[in-house]
Amino acid sequence: MGYAKVLLGLLLVTALAATSTTQTKLKCSKEGAKCTALIEYVSPNNTNITTIQSLFQVKKFRNLLGANNFPTSIPSDKNVNAAEKIRIPFTCLCANGTGVSNRKPVYKVQEGDFMYHIAKEVFSGLVTYQQIAEFNGVMDPSLINPGQELWIPLPCSCDEVNGIKVVHYGMLVDAGSTVEGIAEQYGTTSGTLLTLNNMTDPSELLAGQVLDIPLPACSSHVSNNSLDYPFLLANGTYVYTASNCVKCKCDSANNYTLQCEPSGLKSTNSDWTTCPVMQCQGADGLFIGNKTSSGCNQTSCVYSGFTSQTILTSLVTESICPVPSSPPAPSAAPAPSAPYVPSAPYAPSAVPAPPAPSAAWRIGFQGLGWNFFLFISIQLIFLSLHLFQ
Ligand SMILES: *[C@@H]1O[C@H](CO)[C@@H](O)[C@H](O)[C@H]1NC(C)=O
Ligand SMILES: *[C@@H]1O[C@H](CO)[C@@H](O)[C@H](O)[C@H]1NC(C)=O
Ligand SMILES: *[C@@H]1O[C@H](CO)[C@@H](O)[C@H](O)[C@H]1NC(C)=O
Ligand SMILES: *[C@@H]1O[C@H](CO)[C@@H](O)[C@H](O)[C@H]1NC(C)=O
Ligand SMILES: *[C@@H]1O[C@H](CO)[C@@H](O)[C@H](O)[C@H]1NC(C)=O
Ligand SMILES: *[C@@H]1O[C@H](CO)[C@@H](O)[C@H](O)[C@H]1NC(C)=O
Ligand SMILES: *[C@@H]1O[C@H](CO)[C@@H](O)[C@H](O)[C@H]1NC(C)=O
Ligand SMILES: *[C@@H]1O[C@H](CO)[C@@H](O)[C@H](O)[C@H]1NC(C)=O
Ligand SMILES: *[C@@H]1O[C@H](CO)[C@@H](O)[C@H](O)[C@H]1NC(C)=O
Repeated sequence: MGYAKVLLGLLLVTALAATSTTQTKLKCSKEGAKCTALIEYVSPNNTNITTIQSLFQVKKFRNLLGANNFPTSIPSDKNVNAAEKIRIPFTCLCANGTGVSNRKPVYKVQEGDFMYHIAKEVFSGLVTYQQIAEFNGVMDPSLINPGQELWIPLPCSCDEVNGIKVVHYGMLVDAGSTVEGIAEQYGTTSGTLLTLNNMTDPSELLAGQVLDIPLPACSSHVSNNSLDYPFLLANGTYVYTASNCVKCKCDSANNYTLQCEPSGLKSTNSDWTTCPVMQCQGADGLFIGNKTSSGCNQTSCVYSGFTSQTILTSLVTESICPVPSSPPAPSAAPAPSAPYVPSAPYAPSAVPAPPAPSAAWRIGFQGLGWNFFLFISIQLIFLSLHLFQ
């Protein structure tokens, strides 16, 4: 029996080595930079959104809803089906050339857990067990104890892409996807995706890989002394900021301009008993989110950040009449520079070339290879148990 155990151990080690892909490390060049990033999570079984919130230690339930553009009315016991995809918002930190989640989430090892299960199943393969071991200084991954705490280093980035500020989204590649198809879905180009992910050829795409997608972010007037600077909100998401007092959303339908309004919620700031009045100075009765227009000029009262004392606002005037002349007019508002110019990079790539069949084939094959290997390994384990009993 002792011999069987050794053999079983050997087989398991072989299986683990062969099935674990070397998960992506994403490039993050601005040393020490912090930003908000998103990652895709695929739950291994039926669960609820609160369980996912606590697994990833997302501080605010509302911001988890916002990252997925779920209605705010969704109850905390909302069911999440197995294989359903959920976007997780988290803080990214650039260190040593790569981006990883900033010391969170921390996972407490359960009875019967093993490293491979934690990486591949609990965290849906967003990290490898080798990465967890490396970042936690675990010398021997087979030696972890119930109750031990492990930091899960989720891959991310804070880099600008083509000179534009974006929100990096770590997407889990499905079997059968192509770089071309993913680029088209997210309004970017294959070339951008390949460069960003350090790939030379689309056929390098692997099922289960974390692919870095640059999501367009809305331009905002949030100033650099604000506690939520740089305020980068991805297209198709919303967030509560300024101690819950302000709700902002980003939508391509609004020309990638941040739309904020008073949230109507209670302040979570211990210094403010209630949310401050968010009125723009020099404009009668204009609050954050209000607009007035006279002639060609539209004046908006916009959110421009918060400090420990107050919520900042600013008045932005822009022309809403069509510009007749051909040379591009200089930006109307002498306001803080807009980080995102919705131009070329996100225009859907012109006439996508037919996807290279090799890419899809390769992925299909990879998927098969993986499952097949696992299947064979399990058969061998059972066989060996039989033999040595
Ligand atoms: C979510 O699921 C967990 C585990 O199944 C359960 O303990 C918890 O009560 C559920 N939470 C809600 C809000 O229903
Ligand atoms: C960067 O790498 C060095 C050497 O490998 C290490 O000592 C340091 O802790 C790393 N920094 C961070 C923030 O991980
Ligand atoms: C669901 O998956 C999680 C993560 O792998 C696990 O901890 C939990 O026990 C599973 N729940 C059920 C009901 O299988
Ligand atoms: C990019 O890939 C090459 C080879 O595939 C590797 O040598 C290099 O270290 C990678 N660069 C980064 C930044 O990951
Ligand atoms: C903050 O922005 C102001 C003007 O918008 C600029 O003068 C200043 O240098 C910026 N400060 C930092 C730390 O970037
Ligand atoms: C932006 O978000 C909208 C709504 O969620 C979506 O329809 C659109 O495809 C997105 N555009 C890009 C470029 O991601
Ligand atoms: C969208 O924004 C760009 C740059 O901020 C501007 O040039 C363009 O006129 C805007 N389009 C509309 C329809 O408002
Ligand atoms: C200004 O915004 C507030 C709150 O968003 C709203 O209740 C009010 O009707 C708006 N006022 C005008 C003049 O649009
Ligand atoms: C519109 O704004 C410009 C300057 O931004 C100003 O010169 C002009 O008088 C304004 N027009 C109206 C109708 O308010």
